Amino acid sequence: MRLDIITIFPAMFTGLFDFSIIRRALDKGVAEIHLHDLRDHALNKYRNVDDYPYGGGAGMVMMAEPIVECISQLSNDRLYDEVIFLTPDGQLLDQGIANELSLKGNLILLCGHYKGVDERVREHYITRELSIGNYVLSGGELAAAVLVDSIVRLIPGVLGDESSALSDSFQDGLLSPPVYTRPADYKGWKVPDILLSGHEAKIREWRIQQAIDRTKKRRPGLLEDKD
Ligand code: 6GU
Repeated sequence: MRLDIITIFPAMFTGLFDFSIIRRALDKGVAEIHLHDLRDHALNKYRNVDDYPYGGGAGMVMMAEPIVECISQLSNDRLYDEVIFLTPDGQLLDQGIANELSLKGNLILLCGHYKGVDERVREHYITRELSIGNYVLSGGELAAAVLVDSIVRLIPGVLGDESSALSDSFQDGLLSPPVYTRPADYKGWKVPDILLSGHEAKIREWRIQQAIDRTKKRRPGLLEDKD
């Protein structure tokens, strides 16, 4: 998978992909991430990529030309499955969307800023608009990083234990059951006996029941396919 991120702050991604599972995916070559400074596509020598909104009002709007120029340049070299705009008014990212996107080949991620981007870019170039939650971030960069992490870890061959992604919270619509490691007795707080029993079938059953109980208690909406 190839991910091309268009941003006015490429340095914000420094270090974010250098650790853990994402690092392993990049090292293995199953994913590559390319950062593009939108200002390199600015029309003037001041490298401006925003302008005043027509009709007035506060804030600036990201201009169409630099964005289209950058997307077009990338599209000359390969076909993209999706051009995704990270924006608070996009569709809420969930595990289903991450699963779907993890099967794609080439994706462009556009990070929004200011009051947003010229609507004509959204109408004619963007194929999908995503938000990572109902709160406002100062830009789309952190949202793009969250999206990249959620997708790349799902690419086949990335996780060492192939079953590991399938047992994630949300993957089966349930939260994960509690987990424990040694010692079996810590300050008198004991690990549930069942987990020490060696009885595999009973342990599996216990974990499923714990997952259901947890989901009912903490995120009842998930059981009805909501929030
Ligand atoms: Cl994608 N962008 C911004 N600026 N804020 C957000 C968001 C995206 N998702 C949630 N909040």
